[in-house]
Amino acid sequence: MNKLLYILLYMPIISFTQNPNYSEDIAPIIYGKCLQCHYSGGIAPLSLETYPDAVANAGLIQHVVSNGEMPPWPPDTTYQRFSYENILSLDEITMITDWITLGAPIGDTNLLPQIPIFPTTSSLGNADLEIQIPTYSSTATSNSDDYVCFSIPTGLMQNREIRAIEVIPGNLQTVHHAIISLDAFPNSSIVTTPNCMGPQGGTIYTWAPGSVPLIYPLSQTYDFGVNLPANSSLSISMHYPEGSFGQLDSTKVKIYFHPVNTAIREIYSDYLINEGLLSQPFILPPNQITEITGTFGPTNQDYSFMSVFPHMHLLGKSIEMFAVSPLNDTINLIKINNWDFEWQGAYLFKKFLKIPSGSMIYATGFYDNTQSLSNPNPVTVQSGLNTQDEMFVGIFQFLDYEIGDENIILESTNIVSSNSSNLPFNLNGKFSKVVDILGRETKESKNIPLFYLYDDGTVEKKIIIE
Ligand code: HEC
Repeated sequence: MNKLLYILLYMPIISFTQNPNYSEDIAPIIYGKCLQCHYSGGIAPLSLETYPDAVANAGLIQHVVSNGEMPPWPPDTTYQRFSYENILSLDEITMITDWITLGAPIGDTNLLPQIPIFPTTSSLGNADLEIQIPTYSSTATSNSDDYVCFSIPTGLMQNREIRAIEVIPGNLQTVHHAIISLDAFPNSSIVTTPNCMGPQGGTIYTWAPGSVPLIYPLSQTYDFGVNLPANSSLSISMHYPEGSFGQLDSTKVKIYFHPVNTAIREIYSDYLINEGLLSQPFILPPNQITEITGTFGPTNQDYSFMSVFPHMHLLGKSIEMFAVSPLNDTINLIKINNWDFEWQGAYLFKKFLKIPSGSMIYATGFYDNTQSLSNPNPVTVQSGLNTQDEMFVGIFQFLDYEIGDENIILESTNIVSSNSSNLPFNLNGKFSKVVDILGRETKESKNIPLFYLYDDGTVEKKIIIE
């Protein structure tokens, strides 16, 4: 029998016949898929670190995992898959349900996996450049959010190329998201802009609860990244949710550079879909659901798409974006069936997605302006920048296509280059050997490119520079 089919058929049987217990079956799920938000001091209100935590919340856990609310993963996985996807398999959901039905047995605690530790400072180590917003006190009230942008000079005297970027939220209970972009209007001092939903220029990175740092991919042929010019400013667009009035935050952005003068393939970022702001405003009449569409294209060359960041505000209900090639192939980009303003961000494709020259991009969004608990008195809403206005936006990260791009895996466990800074070379795989450019096994040495092979089949190029 085909191996994949065998696994598919066999897996559900295991979970029904083995009686799941906490130590062997449930803790691995919670540690791997929940704890990154549900540790004490984490973004989620509830800690799930211990057995008593899990038992005390068993009913709630079962409820939120079976209705798909947790872990939060808005994109429709039958439409397009993304890097760093955090979802539960049907099998895992069944396992949790069975475990609760059995009375939540603890099992043999000697078999508990190692509990992961979540660093509050950095998971990448010392940065080459750190940008921090001045300590800020949220002005969100009990029923309005605070959106504020800080434009901060980088102080760079020369152009550098970003190879990784990480956001360290100053206050996990208060920071709802942070959008980092290259400010189109750099300044020599910090500029604070209230009621600013950002981004102000080319988006580089979006942080939302549970986000991992962005490490640009590196194949054996290319370095990828974003150019950060001399005298540039970075715009940090912060969102502090309602109820956070008076809470202090000082979020930090850590930036890791390629060695000076690395020839990179530059990743661009642009609003390919942006209805109602630059074009004719759109209007959402009260007491109805309204469809808004947007198009982009035809594209004038082949592109490799890296990520998609769909954006709507509070009335957004669902959103779908896809490309159609000149040969009439449909390339799914993203579909979110239940838009949730609280959970949004940029989604990194699994591999670069080739969008051939001459393609059109189509976007459709539905907005629900009918009466509900969160919208008790519907009024006409127009497109605009305020939270109470609406947006219909698709921000894409992409670059000029080169043959082979579609094979480059975008999750950073794959290939990471490094120079002298202590970015981990591989976040998951176990290291197996070092080879030189000709594939000969060798020892680590300075100033020459070496390839690090891992037992999970991944390869990293690394040059240690003296
Ligand atoms: C990306 C961060 C994140 C991950 C991952 C995550 N949660 Fe949550 N969870 C939250 C936040 C934040 C809340 C608070 C409510 C909200 O904002 O939706 C929450 C709320 C909850 C609640 C309380 C719901 C309520 O109505 O009071 C439960 C139970 C829960 N999560 C269980 C889980 C379980 C089980 C997993 C893993 C399978 C998980 N969560 C994964 C962020 C996360």
